[in-house]
Amino acid sequence: MKTYIVGNWKLNFTVGESSIYLHKLVKSLPSYRNLEVVVAPSTLSLQPLSLQIDRKRIKLAAQNGFYRDYGAFTGEVSFSQLRGLVDYAIIGHSERRYILKEDDKTIQKKVAAAIRNKIRPILCVGEIESERAFGETADTIKDQLLGGLADVSDDDLSKVIIAYEPVWAISSVKGAKLASPSEVAEAIDIIRQTLIETYGAEAAKKITVLFGGSVSPSNAGGYLTIPGVNGLLVGGASLILHEFVDIIEIAKKVQA
Ligand code: PGA
Repeated sequence: MKTYIVGNWKLNFTVGESSIYLHKLVKSLPSYRNLEVVVAPSTLSLQPLSLQIDRKRIKLAAQNGFYRDYGAFTGEVSFSQLRGLVDYAIIGHSERRYILKEDDKTIQKKVAAAIRNKIRPILCVGEIESERAFGETADTIKDQLLGGLADVSDDDLSKVIIAYEPVWAISSVKGAKLASPSEVAEAIDIIRQTLIETYGAEAAKKITVLFGGSVSPSNAGGYLTIPGVNGLLVGGASLILHEFVDIIEIAKKVQA
């Protein structure tokens, strides 16, 4: 199975800065096979960057998209407009769930809209600190997972990528802590088991699952060797070119 390293730039970098970063990234990239390097710049940068990149080396992801393809939705950008520009879209990131108040129903429609427009959704799930403290981690993960996947047909299931991101481990969250490999392994197991119970072992096996939350060159190797983890969703460290390149190098070594 491929290993995925996805950089989530969030609300950082102008169009010019994004272009320069990608130019330098391409120059520093090692050669690899079976590794998918993806970056998620701001929506504004996607169109020019889509012309700049060699898609055999780097792919683009949108950080969001709207679930209707067109119509009276001021300020939104639809997956039909993103179609052709990006291969992936991050959907249901915790910043959108908690700051922008996106609910499971909205996320479910976005996942379906992405697939309808030939864009692979990276569906983010993960508990907040209090849910973990109250023993609600498994329920939260299951609800977000099955909620997000509710409109996905069996045929399309293998197109979905799941990212487990415990909210309390995201570097920009106040008082963020590092998730231990055993905590991650436990949550990945919940995700894998839920997928097996809902869709069967054969279909579940084909689903890519990533981990994200304060990933850095110093912990990437540890997270990548957890059974059931197929890659990483990297926030802060993806903004620092040499750290992102280091993480890609580590992924290459872990695979070898
Ligand atoms: P982080 O962000 O790596 O800065 O913790 C990850 C994410 O929010 O996707």
